[in-house]
Amino acid sequence: MFFMFDTLEGYIQPGTVEAELVQQVDFSRLPVHVAIIMDGNGRWARQRNLPRTEGHKAGSESVKEAVEAAARLGIKYLTLYAFSKENWKRPKDEVNTLWSLLKKYLAEESKVLLENDLKLKVIGERTGIPYLVRRELARVERLTRNNKRMTVILALNYGGRQEILRAIKKMIRRKSRTEEVDENLFSRYLDTAGLPDPDLLIRTSGEMRLSNFLLWQCAYTELWVTPVLWPDFRRRDLLQAIVDYQKRERRFGGLESAANNHRS
Ligand code: IPE
Ligand code: IPE
Ligand code: MG
Repeated sequence: MFFMFDTLEGYIQPGTVEAELVQQVDFSRLPVHVAIIMDGNGRWARQRNLPRTEGHKAGSESVKEAVEAAARLGIKYLTLYAFSKENWKRPKDEVNTLWSLLKKYLAEESKVLLENDLKLKVIGERTGIPYLVRRELARVERLTRNNKRMTVILALNYGGRQEILRAIKKMIRRKSRTEEVDENLFSRYLDTAGLPDPDLLIRTSGEMRLSNFLLWQCAYTELWVTPVLWPDFRRRDLLQAIVDYQKRERRFGGLESAANNHRS
């Protein structure tokens, strides 16, 4: 199969900052799952005296860049926080723009996802998502369901607390026995069932909070915050995040890094 997003060749120009960062990446220790809180669209627009919706439009270009860069690098799972449960509090116009931009993205990109062996998955509460968007999401999920190279997970109408409560309700409905409830079983009731926990969580625009994102799944995720606003996020920022991530020692509560444990 021929992929448009083939390798890094031609994508990273020699002699650039990006090329220098690629040199520093250890491709045998890539984060398997990268999650991103795409924040700062409104501020990006305000800085340019534009309406907030223009920031969201520019932000959807960054989504395309992040998906392509992650796929080319060999990331297996990329989760993008695109609309939170709390984002309904925003003015109606802005909310409508966000959903219609998503619809446009799906219409334009479904072919790209398909041709590059990328699978689309949605987490969050589907009921509540505008019907036409929901239909488009279902179409692209169906279209890409057998794809293997990378899974793009869109968090839509998503809230971590609400996800946990929905999981508990499902468990009660299935009458799980108290003794059998453990972390493994519980994880299977979450929207992210079957997905590994994120290794790396990126948040743009400098905010140091989770904003109700993947609360259960991020227990031991490495956090990386950049002041870059989401519409300005480019492949070099993803590379920088990965390089910094690889310099960290993940201890998971123990005394040595997992890497050291493997070596001994
Ligand atoms: C992120 O940008 C997009 C969504 C939350 C949907 P914001 O719209 O939150 O931008 P700021 O934080 O106001 O700059
Ligand atoms: C988080 O950003 C939600 C998404 C990126 C979809 P927000 O801008 O909504 O978060 P707060 O309000 O700054 O915490
Ligand atoms: Mg924000």
